[in-house]
Amino acid sequence: MAFAVTRNTDLRSDVDRTAILAEPGFGTHFTDHMVRIDWTAASGWGEGQVVPYGPLTIDPACAVLHYGQEIFEGLKAYHQPDGSVAAFRPQANAARMQRSARRMAMAELPTELFVESLAALVQADRSWVPETIDKSLYLRPFMIATQTGLGVNAPSQAYTYLLIASPAGSYFKGGVKPVTVWLSTDYTRAAPGGTGEVKCGGNYAASFAATAQAAEQGCDQVVWLDAAEHRWVEEMGSNNLGFVYGSGPGARIVTPALTGTLLPGITRDALLQVAQDLGYAAEEGKVSVEEWRDGCASGAITEVFGCGTAAVVTPIGEVRGVDGSFSVGDGAAGGAGPVTTALRDRLVGIQTGTQPDPHGWMHTLT
Ligand code: PLP
Ligand code: COI
Repeated sequence: MAFAVTRNTDLRSDVDRTAILAEPGFGTHFTDHMVRIDWTAASGWGEGQVVPYGPLTIDPACAVLHYGQEIFEGLKAYHQPDGSVAAFRPQANAARMQRSARRMAMAELPTELFVESLAALVQADRSWVPETIDKSLYLRPFMIATQTGLGVNAPSQAYTYLLIASPAGSYFKGGVKPVTVWLSTDYTRAAPGGTGEVKCGGNYAASFAATAQAAEQGCDQVVWLDAAEHRWVEEMGSNNLGFVYGSGPGARIVTPALTGTLLPGITRDALLQVAQDLGYAAEEGKVSVEEWRDGCASGAITEVFGCGTAAVVTPIGEVRGVDGSFSVGDGAAGGAGPVTTALRDRLVGIQTGTQPDPHGWMHTLT
């Protein structure tokens, strides 16, 4: 589909854009354009449009504002050494958005249209793609239910898909700093049959109270445990988790299995493969809080990290909970362990085009 482009006549100045790209932070500055595609039950997906970035006009009675029918995605586009711009596994994000849509009874955006929308926006906002290796353009596709009416007996019959973009800096100012995490036993993120395995806004709305509690405990992030027993480790904040057992070439990486309550992260999936490419054993499994604590005490578990698109790989240095605290590896004052570092470097190398891409993960957008 060709996207209809309405150019923004009030572009950010070169001076402003250059200043933003020098210190982009995360999710605070947005590019000059956005994509919009409307869907109705009667007509399906309408024309793809690139329009100036700006506020939306929506009816105060529309479904997203009352019942939270909203889903989103997050992926990055990276400047490549040959001057092109490529996204990391955009088809995987398209597929996950379709699964999210099915769970939330929303319209599914076809993969081709999803990927074309990324290309259309990145082409329009090409000058917003940072060129340094530690920065990228974060792409935020999302969809809202726009039907007017307060009835809850049927899902919305109208949706709007939007795509915005935000230059993103490295999460790692001055090196990869380990975080301290709070084992959340007062709150749960997801329960079987719920929405934990999809990316709907409501999951994040429900997480803020737990994140605030983690902060009160002096922690950077919350670790989610299973809803029934608060025993099995699921995720960290909005990241998946990796546990490194042993060290050196014999190290083994375990990530909590996808039980239906975890988000199937694309970084998680990629790291399972990257770990094997680097010669490590990598598998999905079950890790309990006791095993985590005992493993750190005995030295069986040497490193633990969170992984996701925004921060890539974040080491965990200290774990706190109602039963006390313990350190992982060299603790919060240490750095990233060697396995965590090797995984991160290989993944970032593929994304930034400085290392080969044997699995065909990079998709050129422009
Ligand atoms: N878990 C949750 C709850 C998330 O929100 C995210 C990030 O979007 C992830 C894990 C990591 O997923 P991905 O690697 O696809 O970014
Ligand atoms: C991630 O991409 O790793 C995230 O944590 C996503 C978050 C900004 C919703």
